[in-house]
Amino acid sequence: PRKIIIDTDPGQDDAVAILLALASPELEVLSLTAVAGNVPLHLTERNARQIVELAGKHTPVHAGCAAPLTRKLVTAEHVHGKTGLDGIPLPDPTQPLHPQHAVDHIIETLRAHPAGTITLCPLGPLTNIATAFARAPDIIPRVAEIVLMGGGCFEGGNITPAAEFNIYVDPEAADIVFKSGAPLVVMPLDVTHKALTSRAWVEGMRSLGTPVGQAVAAWTDFFERFDTAKYGSEGAPLHDPCVIAYLLEPALFHGRHINVEIETASPLTLGMTVADWWRVTDRTPNAMFMGGVDRDGFYRLLTERLGRL
Ligand code: BDR
Ligand code: CA
Repeated sequence: PRKIIIDTDPGQDDAVAILLALASPELEVLSLTAVAGNVPLHLTERNARQIVELAGKHTPVHAGCAAPLTRKLVTAEHVHGKTGLDGIPLPDPTQPLHPQHAVDHIIETLRAHPAGTITLCPLGPLTNIATAFARAPDIIPRVAEIVLMGGGCFEGGNITPAAEFNIYVDPEAADIVFKSGAPLVVMPLDVTHKALTSRAWVEGMRSLGTPVGQAVAAWTDFFERFDTAKYGSEGAPLHDPCVIAYLLEPALFHGRHINVEIETASPLTLGMTVADWWRVTDRTPNAMFMGGVDRDGFYRLLTERLGRL
């Protein structure tokens, strides 16, 4: 199986991504590394442990950075609720937090495994990954691939008109990662806003009759945007599971290998992913930037895998 580290700020959609990975034998989830994002770190690391226990696994959870590299943390309780994982009450986690800091863990793990064998899957702001890269640049060429959720091109932003949340929260970190030279695959809003749940799919999750099915149905109900007039469609965007689905079935997605730069200065467009989709510059391509997803295939995969837990 492919070895991955999931860096995450759960988040209902992070939770579905983690469950998808834990349900899939093609992937060996070495650890979850928590970062501040949707909610503060003390909640994201706790949520991560609850998700691991819901799946009946023992994957270690490491807590990482509590704040972005240089900025004040911006959170998204308006989307995810007070706990970050609102929708269904879960039991207090019994698994303790791993004592090692997530950044030390990422550095140590990449150094300990053969080069090119570990894939990083960031589902939140890029603070942990950027801190590890800045502190230990020797690990960068050891990364097999980074597959992340963040950014947007034609779709615009979701936290400002120009910026997607994960990149906006820590644009300096994103800049480090996008300039690092590590192979990058990006799942932007252009993809994830096409990965909307349907009522039938949510009911299918509920009718699995398992704790995981119940939780996924309750989370996606909570995460549902319920504003057809505003968005032109109903359904909850399952952003972060796109990252894991790509590892399992890359052919579900299509995109372009292009240059993507991060805006770190302009107050108006801070955190924008300036994606050279039409290749109008001669800047070197640094990312496989996805543009679309086979929605039916994506939900078929989710149903089949989540049903295993
Ligand atoms: C991203 O921000 C978070 O709210 C979600 O978990 C996802 O990672 C979407 O912009
Ligand atoms: Ca997330």
